[in-house]
Amino acid sequence: MISLRINNKPVQFDGEPDTPLLWALRDHFKLTGTKYGCGIGQCGSCTVHIDGKARRSCMTTVSNTEGKSVVTIEGLAKGDQLHPVQQAWLEQDVPQCGYCQTGLIMTTVEFLQQHPKPSDEDINANVKNLCRCGTYVRVRKAIHRAAELSAQEK
Ligand code: FES
Ligand code: FES
Repeated sequence: MISLRINNKPVQFDGEPDTPLLWALRDHFKLTGTKYGCGIGQCGSCTVHIDGKARRSCMTTVSNTEGKSVVTIEGLAKGDQLHPVQQAWLEQDVPQCGYCQTGLIMTTVEFLQQHPKPSDEDINANVKNLCRCGTYVRVRKAIHRAAELSAQEK
């Protein structure tokens, strides 16, 4: 039995310990906001936070999260209050098909903690999730907007 926290709630996983966290989240805990894209750590659509760090959940086994805190897109808002990154995404109407977007949002949340006033170069160097719909221009605008909204919240 593996004990961890998901979205601030204590949970237990009683399946195979080497199950990728991605599939534990989706199939066992029914948190389907985290998406499967490539399964080999390349696309970023499966990104979640583990102890506050953005991590690709297809590349981590659930046993590696024993005792840790996992946050998924479902745990980002505080009740009805969207996270500033989610708010900026809505304002800029970023998604096209939407498939990759939860991973992009989770990546951006951690990125802005490290780069509260990012340049375009910072974004290019650090936000490397793939989007087959090519929403990159809107993603960049939304990251700048999210930085503004986050600064206003402080
Ligand atoms: S599904 Fe995990 S990086 Fe693509
Ligand atoms: S919005 Fe369709 S893959 Fe990114």
